[in-house]
Parts: sequence; structure tokens; C-alpha cells
Amino acid sequence: MSIGADNLSAERPTFVTHLECSATGERYEADRIANLSRAGKPLLVRYDLAAIGKALSKDELSRRQHDIWRYREFLPVRKASDIVSLGEVLTPLIRLKQSALGAGELLVKDESRLPTGSFKARGVALAVSMMKAFGIKETAMPTNGNAGAALAAYCARARIKATIFCPDDTPEINVREIEAQGATVYRVNGLIDDCGKLVAQGREARGWFECSTLKEPYRIEGKKTMGLELAEQLDWEVPDAIFYPTGGGTGLIGMWKAFAELEAAGFIGAKRPRMVAVQASGCAPMVKAFLQGQTHATRWQNASTVAMGIRVPQAIGDFLILQAVRDSGGFAIAVDDEAIIEAREEVAHKDGLLMCPEGAATYAAYRKALAEGKISPSDRVVLFNCASGLKYELPPMTRRLDLTKAIDFRAL
Ligand SMILES: Cc1ncc(COP(=O)(O)O)c(C=O)c1O
Repeated sequence: MSIGADNLSAERPTFVTHLECSATGERYEADRIANLSRAGKPLLVRYDLAAIGKALSKDELSRRQHDIWRYREFLPVRKASDIVSLGEVLTPLIRLKQSALGAGELLVKDESRLPTGSFKARGVALAVSMMKAFGIKETAMPTNGNAGAALAAYCARARIKATIFCPDDTPEINVREIEAQGATVYRVNGLIDDCGKLVAQGREARGWFECSTLKEPYRIEGKKTMGLELAEQLDWEVPDAIFYPTGGGTGLIGMWKAFAELEAAGFIGAKRPRMVAVQASGCAPMVKAFLQGQTHATRWQNASTVAMGIRVPQAIGDFLILQAVRDSGGFAIAVDDEAIIEAREEVAHKDGLLMCPEGAATYAAYRKALAEGKISPSDRVVLFNCASGLKYELPPMTRRLDLTKAIDFRAL
């Protein structure tokens, strides 16, 4: 790999034309600090995709270093000097062999390899780079753990002050990780949307920049790289279905946006994967809205699941998630905690891949969808393992050997 092709220093033409309200289509100027649109909905970054198609070829792309910044033409950062990076590697597609159930291909996109051990690094790398470009000095975020960990790390690197709020039962390792990376973190006796309200209130009181899911336009651009990367890894053939553990839905909406942009720029054709939103039975607002044919979801009461990352009772991008799922011919599906834990054990034992509970939920959902005939056994399916399984509590291990006694090796 040549050093001259360094994605972090190459200056490049940029293609952002404007920001657009995801609900009304209203246009907003790019290159200004932005949160939600006037309609109170997420803003999306728009590009001159025809120009990208002319400026970039598959061949040129294939020669670049293996990190997310290789897709720079599709990203909003205008100046290389604004990039805040901790080494956002491309993540492998790992084929499940023993735990595959059909004749098709079952692939896990293993996002645990990214900085801070989760896919949140993608979105946060982009959001913090844009904060740097805009000269923002203070930000805040609600988190179920992984996003806060990523924000803490990237803000430390960019010298931005980060204040982070998480539900008080957030995994201890995440909370300590956030603190250890220099952010100020508070446990809150509420859920992630309650934490989100604190962030919004503090925005008025403190003037910090709100970095909540889909309340600023750039985290989704980072998550979009999952779709760009997936298409390129599969030689510009999208898979038949993608199972995505859905909380706020940034990744699902981001990948859907990536495929549309790739088609408009001439990199892929009209085929799309079926987008499958996977939720936990204890918090399944998208599944309920999908089954009831609604455009928006209602807040899920008493949300509870071991898969903390998808414990999101209400998502501001609900209509975008539902639209992507429906337009793709996909579906939303819920699995219970028991199935999630079983799935984690099965894939770890049979294929040596310790998934996070949210990732394991996608495997449990795949099994269920196969059994219900919603997925064909011959389909090529991609599951998302969004974070390292090491960040979560694991079943206890109690076996011990006493060196003061004779060891019966035949009994081991
Ligand atoms: C491990 C994990 N999986 C899935 C999600 C949900 O991601 P999204 O907000 O893109 O739906 C999260 C978010 O916190 C997470 O940490």
C-alpha cells in the first residue's frame, strides 16, 4: 500500500451541495452548524452524485488505503486537516460455517474491530471531524454505552469537551471507558430518551452542541460507510438481506442512503438488500409500528432487554427506518432475551465468534425468519455484530483446580 495514497492527508474535491430535511425536503445551506430542521426532523447531507460518478472509479477506489476515509468523495469533511481519526479500519465479513442454517451464505460484518470496539466509531469520527471544522468546543450526548465511549475518545483527540448521560444500568465497562477517555459522564435514573432530554435542556442552558442520534447530520454519514464498504467488499453486488440491530436506526437509514447514493453515482444497479430491523421483544417499537402499518412508532413502555444498545423506546428517525424497511421489501422482527443469549452461545461455540448481545439478536432473528419462511435458505445474508462481545457481562465460570491435590487428568 503506497504512503502517497494516505486517505488522511489527501486533499480532494468535495461534493456536498446542501442539507435537506428528511421529512419536508426543505433545503438548508451546508457548512454551517446544524441540528434538526425547522420541522424538527433529521437533516440529511446531499451530494452532487453525478459529479462523484465522474470523479471516482471503482478502480481508483480499489487502490486506496483500507479505512473509511477511502470513501472521501461520499463524505462531508472538506479539508483533510479537519479529520479526527483513531484508525477506522474496514471491518471483515466473516462467514459462519457451523452455525449457518441454509444453503446460502451467512456473513457477519464484525464491527468490533473498530476503535472503542464498536461501530459507533464510524458515526462519531465523522461528527467530531465536522465539529472540529466548525470550531465547536463543547458537546453532549445521551448513550446506552458504546456511542458515549466513541464520543469520549474522539473528543479527547480533538480537544472538545464532552458531557455524556447514560441510563444507570449501562454496562459498567462502558461507563468507566467513557470516564477513562476524558469525558464527563453521569448515570441517570431513566432511559436513553430521558438522557436525550437532558442533553436538549443543557443545549439551551450551556450552549453545548447536541450530538444525539440523528439530531445532527453527520453521524449518519459515518454509519453510511457500512453500506459503501459492504457493497465494495461484495464486489459491488449487494446481499439479499441485511439484519440490523435497530435502536435509533442510524446504521439502517445510513446504509439505505449509501445504496441510493452508490446507484446514483453509477457504482451499483437497482438491486437492494431487504433491510431487516431487528429488535428485542422487551423494546420493539419499530416492530409494532411495522406490523400495524404505521408511519411513526409510539413510545415503548417499560423497555427492558439484555441488548442495551437497542433499548431505545422512541427514535426520532422512526419514519425513516420504517420507510427503508418497507421500500426494501424487508421486515421488522423481535426476538426475546433468551433467544439472544442462546444465539450468542451458539455462534461462539460453533464458529468462535463472540458476538455482542445486539449482534447475537440478529442471528436469533435470522433463525426465526428462516423458520417462518421470511428468508430463503439460499439467500446471501449479512448480520451486523456491532460491538465487541467483551464489553458485556458473560456467564460465570466456576471450574477450579487445587494444586495441593492430585489432579485426575482423565476427568478434565
Ligand atoms: C452494540 C449496538 N448495537 C446496535 C445499536 C443500535 O444502533 P442504531 O442506533 O444505529 O440503531 C447500538 C446503539 O447504541 C449498539 O451500541
